[in-house]
Amino acid sequence: ASLKPLNTLSLNQNSLMLVEANSVSDLIRYIKQAKEMGAPYMIIGGGSNIVFTCDYEGMIIKLINKGIVITEDNENVYLTVQAGENWHELVQFTLDEGYFGLENLALIPGSVGAAPIQNIGAYGVEINQFCNEVTYLNTDTFSEHTLAGSECKFDYRDSIFKKQLKEIAVITSVKLAIPKNWQANLSYGPLNHLNTQTVSAKEIYETVCAVRTSKLPDPCKLGNVGSFFKNPIIEAEQYISLLKKFSDLVGYAQADGRIKVAAGWLIDEAGLKGYILGGAAVHNKQALVIVNINQATGDDVRKLAHHVIDTVYNKFGIKLEPEPRIIGSHGEVEL
Ligand code: EPU
Repeated sequence: ASLKPLNTLSLNQNSLMLVEANSVSDLIRYIKQAKEMGAPYMIIGGGSNIVFTCDYEGMIIKLINKGIVITEDNENVYLTVQAGENWHELVQFTLDEGYFGLENLALIPGSVGAAPIQNIGAYGVEINQFCNEVTYLNTDTFSEHTLAGSECKFDYRDSIFKKQLKEIAVITSVKLAIPKNWQANLSYGPLNHLNTQTVSAKEIYETVCAVRTSKLPDPCKLGNVGSFFKNPIIEAEQYISLLKKFSDLVGYAQADGRIKVAAGWLIDEAGLKGYILGGAAVHNKQALVIVNINQATGDDVRKLAHHVIDTVYNKFGIKLEPEPRIIGSHGEVEL
């Protein structure tokens, strides 16, 4: 079966089997079936953070379980959301219902279940700020477990689901806590011009949507997985020495004194904006994004990513790491 409609990079690779799971019991049934066949299996949500570098020799299970349950206490509104819900639709739903806080995370492609895995973040906010609990299926024992947000080891584009629980957990639902006492987060550059006193969540939402639309290509029109690389975090000494040569290098100080450098700036400065390899290209408006311009294969994307990593390393001595999950014939692989 073609995986093209299931991955936002629109890579036309195939899988042996492709199924949809509507519920956790469906999910268990399919995983057992794959195990009995001795075939690898993989769960996908919106397909917006995966790169199929070749055909997948196993079962792809698209998790589409739906539903939102709302409860509240004095401080928060709680939304328990099934993993197969769409993230952006959830953001819109919360704003329509008058629950404010997720507006900075508008227009991030993908499913709710995928959101905690890499701790999605944009415009000064990360999902961990709202993540109360994550429920996952253990694929060894087929039992469900719930972790408190504080147990998920959230970090920049990282969580326990990319580390200790990588092979054995499938997130089935996420419980968000939305504080009733809303506070605007305008810390990120492109939101600075808004007035803290008078701004509404709706205005932030609209500004975020406008900024994103102007920079990031719509995956329905031009295949992509958002940022292809993480912004690297380097030691202050290296940053200072790079500044001597590259005075406009963009960096943000971290709490631990290290500096997060804009990978988009590095790639751009290395002259790679618009660079084409096969059917894949470095986006000509935002160098951190790799786009599928002409029926790219997974291998085109992989080769292009390696070229970017090597070029940036040779110029700045900084090693970029891919942000999406890279998938080989039997599962996740190194780029
Ligand atoms: N820049 C360039 N040239 C480029 C691209 C960027 O010089 O081609 C410079 C910009 O001028 C800016 C800096 O790099 O000074 C940062 O760029 P931008 O504000 O566009 O954000 P980013 O660091 O490239 C990150 C996230 C995005 C998120 C935005 C906004 C990562 C890997 N990416 O991008 O997340 O939307 O900040 O918060 O952290 C994603 O993860 O897929 C994603 C889109």
